[in-house]
Amino acid sequence: MTLRVLDHALSRHLLAELRDRHTPPEAFRQLLGRIGALLTMEAVRRLPETVRRIETPLEAMDHPVLATPLPALVPILRAGLGLLEGAMGVLPEAPIGHIGLVRDEATLTPAEYLRRLPHDLPERGALLLDPMLATGGSACAAVRVLKQAGATRIALLVVVAAPDGARRMAAEHPDVPVLAAALDRGLNERGYILPGLGDAGDRCFGTE
Ligand code: PRP
Ligand code: URA
Repeated sequence: MTLRVLDHALSRHLLAELRDRHTPPEAFRQLLGRIGALLTMEAVRRLPETVRRIETPLEAMDHPVLATPLPALVPILRAGLGLLEGAMGVLPEAPIGHIGLVRDEATLTPAEYLRRLPHDLPERGALLLDPMLATGGSACAAVRVLKQAGATRIALLVVVAAPDGARRMAAEHPDVPVLAAALDRGLNERGYILPGLGDAGDRCFGTE
């Protein structure tokens, strides 16, 4: 398994509200943004650092700073947009790419409808954002898109993962670490995560 579950009391608290069927879209979006910030904060914890000479008001010193270029933030549309605001708050200087994917409800296979990525992904890598890792079809397809664009350092940040999706990611992309706020029990016959939080895109944008 390449998946790690974030051990954070606030993340668990936010997830309870996200899962609650009575949470309306405006609150759902805000909660997704806050959890996106926590996931991003954890993902950048061990980004490469370098040393910069700075001057405090009192003297000069060598100080650790994040190495550049920073990884791009890449939400998988639509639901990944919900995580983006929080991720941007943590890394405001990072460029943003977009990958549009939608699952066919019958076959559960993703179809791509948008690809707009920074040109320098080979140097900077990417943090891929999507709240749901269900069968893993969408995440695996998005990682393939990033690799085709030359990215070698990729991490996937999700809110709820299912064991099927986690296994598929580990099998198809063993080089891509996955950080999740929760690993749930399984999938129902329509490919929805149980207990999950429902359709993340619909709940985020009020299209249920
Ligand atoms: C959802 C979700 C993931 C995908 C997960 O998107 O945001 O991208 O399903 O399912 P999978 O792991 O089985 O591929 P959806 O296709 O519903 O599109 P949306 O975000 O526009 O609602
Ligand atoms: N996509 C979602 O939005 N929710 C699920 O439970 C599975 C896929």
